[in-house]
Amino acid sequence: MKYNFDEPINRKNTNCEKWDNCIERFGKADLLPLWVADMDFKTPDFIINALKQRLEHEVLGYAIRPRSFYDSVKNWLQRRGWEIDTKKLSFSPGIVPAINFAVNVFTQPGDSILINTPVYHPFMYAVNNNGRRLLKNSLVNSGDGYYTIDFDDFETKLASGVKMFIFCSPHNPVGRVWTVEELDKIGELCLKYNVLVVSDEIHSDLVFRPNKHTYLASVSKDLAQQTITFIAPSKTFNTAGLYSSVVYSDNEELFGRFNKFVNNLSISQGTIFGDVAFEAAYTHGEDWLSQLLEYLNGNFEFVVDYLRNNIPQITTRKPEGTYLMWLDCSGLNMSSAQLHEFMVSAGLAMNPGRIFGDEGTLFMRLNAATTRANLQNAMKYLHNAMEKRKL
Ligand SMILES: Cc1ncc(COP(=O)(O)O)c(C=O)c1O
Repeated sequence: MKYNFDEPINRKNTNCEKWDNCIERFGKADLLPLWVADMDFKTPDFIINALKQRLEHEVLGYAIRPRSFYDSVKNWLQRRGWEIDTKKLSFSPGIVPAINFAVNVFTQPGDSILINTPVYHPFMYAVNNNGRRLLKNSLVNSGDGYYTIDFDDFETKLASGVKMFIFCSPHNPVGRVWTVEELDKIGELCLKYNVLVVSDEIHSDLVFRPNKHTYLASVSKDLAQQTITFIAPSKTFNTAGLYSSVVYSDNEELFGRFNKFVNNLSISQGTIFGDVAFEAAYTHGEDWLSQLLEYLNGNFEFVVDYLRNNIPQITTRKPEGTYLMWLDCSGLNMSSAQLHEFMVSAGLAMNPGRIFGDEGTLFMRLNAATTRANLQNAMKYLHNAMEKRKL
C-alpha cells in the first residue's frame, strides 16, 4: 500500500499541544508550528484499525498484556539485530517518566549524572529535579554541524565519580546516529569506571541510509549487564499521546529493581489503547516506516537545499537520525532572545536551541515531520522575514 504523507491534516482545535498551545508558549496563536516532537501525519491505518477493533468490544476494564505484545517487541528488535529475553522487559508510561524512575532507583540524592549537551532537555530536568548533580560532556561541532563526542572530557567526567550516564541514541537534537566505534568507546569507558548507562533509544527506528542504528546494549555482553534501555514506537508511529514504552535490561538485578519500582507505583499495567497501538506498530509497521523514512529524507533535502540557496546565514545538515533538524543561526548575528523573537515574528514556532544546553544558544530546532507543503510555507515565511530585515 502506498501511504500519502502529503495529505494535509488539520490538527487545530483538537487539543493538540503542537498546534493549539502556541499562544501559551510563544505568545501568538497563528504560528506554523515546527516544535513539539510529534508528526503531522496520520497515525497509520493498521494502528487506528486495531484501536477501533478493540473499542468494538465495548468493555474497558482492567487488562493484561498478552504474549503477542512481548513477541512484537522481541521480533521488531530481532529484525534490527538485537536479541532480547522478553522476561526482562519492563514497562513505563513514557520514556521521560522512565528516565526519572531510573534516576530514583539507581542513584542517590547528590550523586553525579553525566549527559552529552546539547541534549533533549528533560534529561537535565530528570537530574536537577531529583536533587542529583548534573555533569555535562559537551558534544563537539566540527563546524559543519556534525557532532562528535569529546572522549577525553567524557573520561575525565566519568573518572570524577559519576554514577550514571544518560545517553541519547540517536541523538536529539543534533541528529547523530552513533557508530559502532563510538558505542564501543562509550561502553569501554563506562565499564572501566563502573558507570550505569541509561540509554534512551526512542528514535532508533528513525534512521536514514547509509546510517545504521546499533542498540548500545547489543555491543557487548559486559555492556549489556551495565545498561538499561528505553524504547517505544511512539515517535516512529505517532502515538505519543498513548504513553506506552518498554524498558529492558539483560542484567537481572537492574531489570528487577526497575520493575519493582514501577510495580510498586502500580503503573506497570499501562492502558489498553497504549498496548494495542504498541503491538500493532511493531507487528505491522515495516512497510509504513520505510515509506515514512523516504518522505522525511525528501523533507530534509528540501530544507537543506532551500537554506543553502536562499538563506545561507542559516546552516544545517541532513540528520542521520530523528526527524529533527538543528539549524545553526549564528550567521544571523542575533542574540538568543532576538533569534527567538525573529522566528516568532516570521510566523514560526520552533524550539529555541538554548533549552538543550548552552551550546544551542544560537540554534533553533526544526521538526521536519510535517507535510512538504508546510515546510515550503515555513521556508517562505523565513525568506520573507529575511527580506524585511534588509529594509
Ligand atoms: C530523546 C527523547 N526521549 C524521550 C522523549 C519523550 O518520550 P515520552 O513521550 O515517551 O516521555 C523524546 C521526545 O521528543 C525524545 O526526543
